[in-house]
Amino acid sequence: MAPEHALVDLQPTPERILAEVVEGLSHSPRWLPSKYFYDAEGSRLFEAITRQPEYTLTRTELTLLEAVLPQIASAVGPGLQVVEYGSGSGRKTGLLLAGLDDVVAYAPVEISRSALEASVARLRAQFPAVEMLPVLADFTRAVELPAPRRPARDVLVFFPGSTLGNFTHAQAVGLLAIMRALLGPQGHALVGFDLDKDPRVLEAAYNDAAGVTAAFTLNLLRRLNREIGSDFDLDGFAHRAVYAGERMRIETSLVSLRAQTVRVGGHRFAFAAGEAIAVEISQKYTRGSVAGLAAEAGLRLAGWWTDADHGFALGLLAPD
Ligand SMILES: C[S@@+](CC[C@H](N)C(=O)[O-])C[C@H]1O[C@@H](n2cnc3c(N)ncnc32)[C@H](O)[C@@H]1O
Repeated sequence: MAPEHALVDLQPTPERILAEVVEGLSHSPRWLPSKYFYDAEGSRLFEAITRQPEYTLTRTELTLLEAVLPQIASAVGPGLQVVEYGSGSGRKTGLLLAGLDDVVAYAPVEISRSALEASVARLRAQFPAVEMLPVLADFTRAVELPAPRRPARDVLVFFPGSTLGNFTHAQAVGLLAIMRALLGPQGHALVGFDLDKDPRVLEAAYNDAAGVTAAFTLNLLRRLNREIGSDFDLDGFAHRAVYAGERMRIETSLVSLRAQTVRVGGHRFAFAAGEAIAVEISQKYTRGSVAGLAAEAGLRLAGWWTDADHGFALGLLAPD
């Protein structure tokens, strides 16, 4: 059995979080980084979202991955180091590691400590021959990955959940370029893409009837109050998620329900009634938009699989 590795801890400090929050709230229009949704409660609520009847993304991706894994395994070959960005609960990872041949090491890069610790403990027990190299970090910043003890033949980057869609076009190209640099000439990136579809279906997915997504969005403010000492009134803001068809994306915001002032660090931010803080985008894709995005990062589509309803796709990207 591979001996246990300590977790590499590069978690953002409260000072860093405060600086990013002040920067976002000072901007017009105001925004907050979506990566800060994921404290322990945020990760728990995200898992609950994936089980809501309206949110089919996770179930569809899991079924698709299971169906096409033999094709992916033969395309990427044996003896890989798997690097996963934003691994969350690691449910999809378990499927992937079981379907690939002789995985050498698994390096998840995840910002949520609770999600990372729980998923690695479970995967370590399930895959004792795979060296676990967890990194607690913000993957949008340069992160040095630990090297596996047994050299891997190649790298497979795994980026499921359409998490790439939480980034603007320029940021997504930047992230794909970081991944490309990890791949070397022969590696691959397996990326999940939520495809564009009926706006009513999309809006329902981000406005579930049980209110779990709304609780997830508002939890961002609770987390900030606890960790950076802000005084957001959780009853003073409401979740809003609308489909912006011209940009092919869901735009999620927290809307101020009245005129109010919020203290953050030494700063005071005045909100008008109805004023929004942009907190997340969820870009939707077509095969053409993915191919274009990949090309801008020096990658090409080496494989493309969708579910029968063309709601979700797995793209296998390789260096151009
Ligand atoms: C949309 S969830 C997807 C989770 C999982 N990959 C899935 O497919 O169900 C995004 C995940 O990425 C993590 N995450 C978001 N932004 C991150 C960042 N900048 N750095 C590291 N992890 C991040 C979150 O904590 C969360 O676990």
